[in-house]
Amino acid sequence: MTSKSPAGPVTLGGELTVHRLGYGAMRLTGAGVWGPPKDRAGALAVLRRAVELGVNFIDTADSYGPDVSEELIAEALAPYPKDLVIATKGGWVRTGPGIWAHNATPSHLRKAVEGSLKRLHLDRIDVYQLHIPDPIVSLEASVGTLAELRSEGKIRLIGLSNVTREHIERARKIVPIVSVQNRYSFADREWDYVVDYCTQNGIAFIPWFPLGAGQAAKDAVQRIAGAHGAKPMQVALAWLLQRSPLMLPIPGTSSVEHLEENMLAGSLRLSEQEFKELAVVPELAFSR
Ligand SMILES: NC(=O)c1ccc[n+]([C@@H]2O[C@H](COP(=O)([O-])OP(=O)(O)OC[C@H]3O[C@@H](n4cnc5c(N)ncnc54)[C@H](OP(=O)(O)O)[C@@H]3O)[C@@H](O)[C@H]2O)c1
Repeated sequence: MTSKSPAGPVTLGGELTVHRLGYGAMRLTGAGVWGPPKDRAGALAVLRRAVELGVNFIDTADSYGPDVSEELIAEALAPYPKDLVIATKGGWVRTGPGIWAHNATPSHLRKAVEGSLKRLHLDRIDVYQLHIPDPIVSLEASVGTLAELRSEGKIRLIGLSNVTREHIERARKIVPIVSVQNRYSFADREWDYVVDYCTQNGIAFIPWFPLGAGQAAKDAVQRIAGAHGAKPMQVALAWLLQRSPLMLPIPGTSSVEHLEENMLAGSLRLSEQEFKELAVVPELAFSR
């Protein structure tokens, strides 16, 4: 990759500008997002290569491993390059391989932020995201706690994940929300209206599972990829980048080869017709 940011920049909260192709560090852990990676050296190499390729936004969470993803990021990259933004999350805990449990109580979030600061070797977390609203804790209590931690200087900016527009609006009454992270790809469009809301309100939209669609809608993606001499995954990422100027994909991979391939998507431009064609294949295509 010659250019450091062919996909262009996005600014978070009016103060942190990052390249629009980030990296998602969930896949660096063991199977089921549990335990250490099989190939530790390989996981560290992926993180270092991501930064070499110009990635300056890395997404992680305390629950990935748990702890493992954050620890690997620190081991591979600390002391961090000045422009590197690490966005972590809390409020959804992992109690076993493939098992999630809600916990976004104020006391848990306080402990979670302290834990992430320690593992990431940071004095302040640039972007801290509520991983998911907790059904038995009011959103106001969870977001209010993050707002307090921000006032205390432990968090710089606050994001949300797995939320509806109503959640975002309620949270914004308490504190500025700079990013929203929901599952989204050209073939998985449940959150189209949230993408639009975020775009209209200057909030970055971070799609997770951005490559899911690369497996599906094979005909259209394969054909468009073939026309550009590109890979289906690159087409899925290019579509996202064209969907909104505030779209910040964070493709995840445990492979340097796939990472390099994904980053090249920043220079791929789909024609208007190709963009539209992919925009109408959705439900048929979505499988994961
Ligand atoms: N907020 C949330 O609730 C939430 C939930 C899930 C994920 N996330 C975040 O979003 C990030 C991305 O989501 P994700 O990891 O679920 O999905 P993804 O990025 O759409 O897909 C990752 C999968 O695709 C494979 N892959 C990646 N690049 C490829 C390529 N060029 N060719 C072929 N296969 C490729 C990876 O395998 P290899 O390792 O073999 O490349 C992996 O199995 C995560 O890392 C995490 O940071 C957030």
